[in-house]
Amino acid sequence: MKKDYVLPSLNEARKRNKESSQKLSFSLDGKYIGLGENKKYYIITHGCQANQRDSETMAGLLEAMGYAMCDDEKQADVIIINTCAVRQGAEEKVLGEVGALKRLKNDHPDLIIGIGGCMAQEEKSVNLILEKYRQVDIIFGTHNITSLPKLLYEVIHTRKRRVEVFSKMGEVIEEVPVTRFMSHKAWVNIMYGCDKFCSYCIVPYTRGKERSRHREDILREVEELVEQGYKEVCLLGQNVNAYGKDLKEDYTFGNLLNDVAKTGIRRIRFMTSHPWDFDDSMILAIKNNSNIMPYIHLPIQSGNSEVLKKMNRRYSREEYLALYDKLKRELPGFAFTTDIIVGFPNESDGAFEDTLSAVRHCEYDNAFTFIYSKREGTPAAMMDDNVDRKTKEERLQKLNELVAYYANRNNQKYKDRIVEVLVDGFSKRNSSVYSGYTPENKLVNFTGRNVKIGDLVKVRITEVMSFSLNGEMVE
Ligand code: 5AD
Ligand code: SF4
Repeated sequence: MKKDYVLPSLNEARKRNKESSQKLSFSLDGKYIGLGENKKYYIITHGCQANQRDSETMAGLLEAMGYAMCDDEKQADVIIINTCAVRQGAEEKVLGEVGALKRLKNDHPDLIIGIGGCMAQEEKSVNLILEKYRQVDIIFGTHNITSLPKLLYEVIHTRKRRVEVFSKMGEVIEEVPVTRFMSHKAWVNIMYGCDKFCSYCIVPYTRGKERSRHREDILREVEELVEQGYKEVCLLGQNVNAYGKDLKEDYTFGNLLNDVAKTGIRRIRFMTSHPWDFDDSMILAIKNNSNIMPYIHLPIQSGNSEVLKKMNRRYSREEYLALYDKLKRELPGFAFTTDIIVGFPNESDGAFEDTLSAVRHCEYDNAFTFIYSKREGTPAAMMDDNVDRKTKEERLQKLNELVAYYANRNNQKYKDRIVEVLVDGFSKRNSSVYSGYTPENKLVNFTGRNVKIGDLVKVRITEVMSFSLNGEMVE
């Protein structure tokens, strides 16, 4: 019955207040424990690192209920798709997947299918799923992850669909169970949400307002990870360096970096920095702590000031480049990557040329490049999406060629160098080929012997490509 549903509203999700967010403590109601006994779950994750981490929370909740993870959807009693809404393409992929699950559901009528994540926060997507995808039993929003046990319980007991999507600013919930998918690298949320409202972006509407976790909770989590043998943490936030601005005390991302570094964790990364919030205390903390990795991701989005203004990015081309030059100067040997959108409304040939010239100036190690995708409910969706598809694709290709050129040129310096690699895994086809990342976040495939996931090994680079390096372990 639709009237039981709590449906999303992007209009509600737009609201912001100045108050500090509430901190809540989670505990699992005893009646949900054991519900998943002898049952299995399978999670499909799309999108950003925040989603990866959210899937680990979903897994933690399901395991607290007694479910066990499986790696084959055909074996699963519960399948969750954690979705992304940042571009149309990501949504289409999810709908394709949900469509394909229909057959599985026909074969296993007791199978429960849940849709979570950013797509669940959009009215349009939820209405489409409710209408056309009868196989979906649960729709839950990014603010409703901890309701997953309750929603599962209700579906199991009533066999009715459940929809719970709050469109609110959100709170900070601590002590939620987590099952981490890796044993050597961990995602650590330091803040949630986004208040930047870049005009093209759906994230501020799907993930609520900027709200920081308390430093004691973050530091305790990192200390526990160190004790458990983790080698790397990645501090996560849509705007990681806006950390602390919503809290009462005078404690910012620079302070947090220094304190996380003191835990002794071997490698610290952070994602994603906004140029607007990149202050000197942050630069100093990065400089002073050798366990903060020499790698910075700094989205530019466009190299043209007019387009940046329409994107509501809060900086001009000149301001971005001045910050970038300062970082290059202050942080020698660091690798830099960026995000770029092509084909934003009214992007002229000249404006696109400015993006190319910014890439030439910055000589990035890599860039994640996207064709602009109109997102309903955002300010840019009211602008005329007037760059034709062919031009968008041509621009993307031209940009990608330039990005690959600098990526390759930057990688040349690694030839014959010995680098430290944190091992992520090994090739399925050849058990003596391993892969992992250098401090600068360069992917390395290498040969070696007796290597385990999570080892830090020395590798001599023998071959250099644009987006990866090959090498052999130094005995
Ligand atoms: N269209 C294309 N790319 C987008 N991004 C965010 N929203 C859109 C959109 N509507 C890109 C930005 C951001 C990255 C995560 O995704 O470059 O930094
Ligand atoms: Fe989206 Fe801009 Fe926030 Fe990044 S900073 S999540 S691009 S609104």
